Amino acid sequence: MKFFLDSANFKEIEEAHSWGVVSGVTTNPSLVSKEKGPFDEIVKKICNLMPDCPVSVEVLSTVSGGMVEEAHRLAALADNVVIKIPMGAEGLKAVHRLSTEGKKVPCNVTLVFSANQALLASRAGAAYVSPFIGRIDDIGWDGTDLVKNIMNIFTCHELDTKVIAASIRHPLHVEQVAAAGAHIATVPFSVLGQMSRHPLTDLGIERFLADWGKTRQEERI
Ligand code: E4P
Repeated sequence: MKFFLDSANFKEIEEAHSWGVVSGVTTNPSLVSKEKGPFDEIVKKICNLMPDCPVSVEVLSTVSGGMVEEAHRLAALADNVVIKIPMGAEGLKAVHRLSTEGKKVPCNVTLVFSANQALLASRAGAAYVSPFIGRIDDIGWDGTDLVKNIMNIFTCHELDTKVIAASIRHPLHVEQVAAAGAHIATVPFSVLGQMSRHPLTDLGIERFLADWGKTRQEERI
């Protein structure tokens, strides 16, 4: 499973990129609205920070014509832009047009909450689908089960749309969607940090250094 960073924050993107574990970025209007500066400039800078990595940027229009127009405008900002299109009939129409007409634009169908939605998005031509795990858990269902269902269906029918497990809230979600076979998990920076830490690692380092310090202090670098 690959990792994308779910963020529009430059510092977080730069730091995560330097760890060598992130191979893409996903943004949404809520994430971008937290950052300062013109939208297009934010998009260009993120794409520049992560060259050769897909950067998902969401359209704001709610009708297919507007989505397609916005998608072409955003896709012209950088070579690695992927257009996030909200699930629904208008979204499907837009994805179909963007994946078949003229200059093709890769789409990430977002706000997916059922396997049927994922299946439709894939058939419409989506390069990625994003089931929202945390928001499903929030309403008392099991987000990880949805990822398992989608993976089974996509494997069974040999669909090549990549599944991005989104709305990841904690490290356990990451392990669960990895076990469910998700191609990608898009993870907030805070969760990436939590994943890297363990109290026994910290304690282990502390003990090693203390033991070394007791007898071999003079050889310390
Ligand atoms: C994914 O593409 C979305 O940007 C994101 O994962 C949504 O997460 P949230 O439910 O925590 O807002």
